[in-house]
Amino acid sequence: MEDKLKKILEKVTKEISDVKSLSDLEKLKNRFLGRKEELSKILRGVKDLPKDKKPIIGKMGNNVRQEIEAMIREVEGDLSESSDKNNIDLTIPGEKIERGHLHPLTQFLRKVTDIFIRMGFEVVPGPEVETAKYNFDLLNIPKDHPSRDLWDTYYIEKPEEVNKKKKKRKKVDLLLRTHTSPMQIRAMEKRKPPIRLIVPGRVFRHEATDAGHETTFYQCEGLVIDKEIKVTDLIGTVQIFLKTLFGKKVKTRVRPHFYPFTEPSMDFDMSCLLCEGKGCPVCGQTGWLEMMGSGMVHPKVLINMKVDPKKYTGFAFGMGIDRFMMLYYGIDDIRLSYKGDLRFLNQF
Ligand code: PHE
Repeated sequence: MEDKLKKILEKVTKEISDVKSLSDLEKLKNRFLGRKEELSKILRGVKDLPKDKKPIIGKMGNNVRQEIEAMIREVEGDLSESSDKNNIDLTIPGEKIERGHLHPLTQFLRKVTDIFIRMGFEVVPGPEVETAKYNFDLLNIPKDHPSRDLWDTYYIEKPEEVNKKKKKRKKVDLLLRTHTSPMQIRAMEKRKPPIRLIVPGRVFRHEATDAGHETTFYQCEGLVIDKEIKVTDLIGTVQIFLKTLFGKKVKTRVRPHFYPFTEPSMDFDMSCLLCEGKGCPVCGQTGWLEMMGSGMVHPKVLINMKVDPKKYTGFAFGMGIDRFMMLYYGIDDIRLSYKGDLRFLNQF
């Protein structure tokens, strides 16, 4: 009797390893645990066994049954798990993955460059780390000249100069560009007039931040050099740009100003779109917003560009992209752009 039980267990252990499907498993289950099968018969017969055998065979028989049931459960679990994998329901709608999008500033900058491209301008990128030579000197902003204070500058120490510490330091002339104007010179090293180009890019200024000021912001420089370029070309270009950008005629005014690299220099204001010129906190109750610096390229700068000022004239402008974007979308704090706050970004 004990041998028989052992054999049954051995058989099941052997056969169950060949089972490949749930229906085979069901068959195996019936064959070994079925009411009419050997194990059941043995268990039913326990009561008729001699007294000393009863507990031994009874216990052993029950153990064998439990072991077989456990093996079946385990294989059943494995098989149904893998059949789940094979029966993927392709009709169940997928989970939506949230998509990112371009930053509003990037979107807006692309709008701006697209307009200039359509007006025949070339787009020229430039380095964010500049030398004082290009950022200042060649733009007619001499060392120690008070006009340098217009641009609060972040200077960069070159690594080797930091290491040399105690030894005499060379005067460091690397900086984060404070405006896109140095690219006027760089671009002209590789080009000859007539030219029409814009330089969109990031600039840096060491100043306190508030709703209207950031230490990092974007500018778009414009430079046109040709024969007989006049102030009216500058004004016309700016006005067409604004009209295209805002989709309607925008009131502008020109105020005299000073930049060392333009002569004459002037600032463009545009009537505040948020209050339509009535006066509001964004325009400081004046009804006007300062949008860009500009002017006719200074003859000294033309010479630095290796352009003959007797033959050619040109105009340049530098506009604050962030300011335009604020106006365009009705944003009242420039700092929102640089925070990465999704509550802000998801609105665009
Ligand atoms: N670079 C000037 C600034 O950052 C703007 C400017 C550009 C003025 C070109 C005149 C001509 O303020």
